[in-house]
Amino acid sequence: MTPRILACDDVSSVGLDLLRAEGFEVVSRPGVEPGDLLAIIPDFDALLVRSRTNVDASIIEAGAGRLRLIGRAGFGLDRIDVPAATKAGVAVMQSPAGIAITAAEFTLGLLLSVARNIPRAHEAMRSGRWDKRRNRGVQLFGKTLGILGMGNVGRAVAERAVLLGMDVIVHDPMVDDALVVAVGARPVSWSDLLTTSHFISVHVAASERTRGLLDDAAFGQMKEGVRLVNCSRGAVVNEEALLQALRTGKVAAAAMDVFESEPPFGSPLLEMPQFIATPHLVSSTFEAQIAVAAELAEQVRDFFVSGEVRGIVNPEVLEGPETESKS
Ligand code: 3PG
Repeated sequence: MTPRILACDDVSSVGLDLLRAEGFEVVSRPGVEPGDLLAIIPDFDALLVRSRTNVDASIIEAGAGRLRLIGRAGFGLDRIDVPAATKAGVAVMQSPAGIAITAAEFTLGLLLSVARNIPRAHEAMRSGRWDKRRNRGVQLFGKTLGILGMGNVGRAVAERAVLLGMDVIVHDPMVDDALVVAVGARPVSWSDLLTTSHFISVHVAASERTRGLLDDAAFGQMKEGVRLVNCSRGAVVNEEALLQALRTGKVAAAAMDVFESEPPFGSPLLEMPQFIATPHLVSSTFEAQIAVAAELAEQVRDFFVSGEVRGIVNPEVLEGPETESKS
């Protein structure tokens, strides 16, 4: 039987057309509401998403039986209940490779924005104010940039920041020191990263270990007037702690593209003049979205056609049912 694929969210048509050309039946419902998704999911073999759709246990349970695969066009899995998928025998796949450069470029944009107050200056101009003095900034050149987490994106940021003449330091216990040195950065401890950085950029995935990593204690250790950028996951920064740090001036400016709850409307952070917010745009370029959708489509095709498995985060669901040892 032809596998039926449901694409929620704005998954690039390049990937969907690739699957159609391979004979898959693909239904695109980019704005589907949770209630409708619940009703239609039993008719599909695979569900493709970005971060808009919350694939919780109820959706997975409703699809269980026919649903074999949930594919994430991109990296983040925090809106997919992976344990529930594993329990239901549904494989979860991601396609993170294509976003690194796009995400690094966006991070640099926010770094420059917190350094030079670009959004605030623009707002002032729109309100008829030629506000030079209030928007005077600081240079990146010669400053210490602390990169928290050096996966694909953190590494691409480090490489680019080195070229801007920044002193780049990295804290990532999972990465070999030699790899950090290879990009022109220095490996440092958690405490050194907090106490010596003029700018901090967060690049760690959401997990129980990283939830609220930047809390009151962490902000307490930071340099007075540090500038913070978070383009990874909202849960990593305790927003209440950040608010207090902005109020006291400990953090001179912060830019966040990701939030504990998205969208963060109503958050007092949005009232703070030295706070810049963007709507989870980190991977939203034409190039990156085509890359992640095409990569995902190829992986999905191989999963169903040849059985070749790539990008699966819960491979245990692919192992046959456990048989009891007779020994
Ligand atoms: C990701 O995890 O791939 C990024 O955060 C981008 O998310 P998005 O695909 O919803 O824009």
